[in-house]
Amino acid sequence: MIVTTAQLFKHAYGKYAIGAYNINNAEQAMGLFKGCISSKAPFIIQISKGARKYTDKKMLEAIIRSADEIFPEAIFAVHLDHGDEETCYDCINSGFYSSVMIDASHDPFAKNVEITKRVVEAAHKKGLSVEAELGMLGGVEEDIKVEEGHACLTDPAEAQEFVKQTGCDSLACAIGTSHGAFKFKGKQSLHFDVLKKIQDRLPNFPLVMHGSSSVPKDEVDRINAAGGQIKDSMGVDVNEYLPAAKLGVTKINIDTDGRLVWTRVHREFFRDKPAEFDFRPPGKIFIEEYAKFIASRNVLLGSAGQLDDLRKSLGK
Ligand code: G3H
Ligand code: 13P
Ligand code: ZN
Repeated sequence: MIVTTAQLFKHAYGKYAIGAYNINNAEQAMGLFKGCISSKAPFIIQISKGARKYTDKKMLEAIIRSADEIFPEAIFAVHLDHGDEETCYDCINSGFYSSVMIDASHDPFAKNVEITKRVVEAAHKKGLSVEAELGMLGGVEEDIKVEEGHACLTDPAEAQEFVKQTGCDSLACAIGTSHGAFKFKGKQSLHFDVLKKIQDRLPNFPLVMHGSSSVPKDEVDRINAAGGQIKDSMGVDVNEYLPAAKLGVTKINIDTDGRLVWTRVHREFFRDKPAEFDFRPPGKIFIEEYAKFIASRNVLLGSAGQLDDLRKSLGK
């Protein structure tokens, strides 16, 4: 069942975080739904601009609608990840999305406010909520690379002013994470002091943590043992998910880790069976492995086991 992102946030706020997982194809969708059903967790499906281009935005929509039929017990929202203004309007007008993210965080504050405000106005007219971003994460997004030195943490006072001026419904904050597999050089930790200050200024307001993959060492080691060359990778400490949730982070974005599971499964499969060329056997393994991974993340986020209570609170 597709619900609004606001309904998920209301149930989760201050207690646990909803896992927001990116999908690009049917195998990822199957693994995601299976993992969320087995762990009894609500979730958010995120679709990036890159994903909408990869096959076709309509294909992704059809995959999600079908998954909803195959797994009628699932409760989830559909969200545009890192949208520009034009893509936000396309998603808002499609009638399919629960929420959109307008990411104008690379623009100066006033321009970010101006763009976000326009998207909020259009989205609210159609009952969608809007995630905006303030501050700059390091790392790589689809077509934007932010060098470590240019990343900047969200300023709590600015965050309060930004939400007031834009009317956005949730805020992606930069608190030390970055996109991709190379998040920290040296000390691995979130800036809980900054997060606490943001929550103090924005009580009961849903915050979002991007760049939250944990980049598991055993996963990377297995990839490298099967021919990969991923060096100096480091992710978020999974033990920091729940403490962040208690400070108002209601949505935790995880994409890179799923790509690592895919890479490990396929590299090992073809290393061990070099004469194989049917993509379905490794695809099948990937679905099961991704489902296990998703379930394990939902446990760490505290969303595992919340499905029945959420259903009751929604009166369904
Ligand atoms: O933040 C970016 C997400 O991981 C999506 O990545 O733009 O390559 O689909 P993508
Ligand atoms: P990761 O690269 O850490 O998985 O972050 C994903 C993300 O923030 C998607 O918006
Ligand atoms: Zn992101």
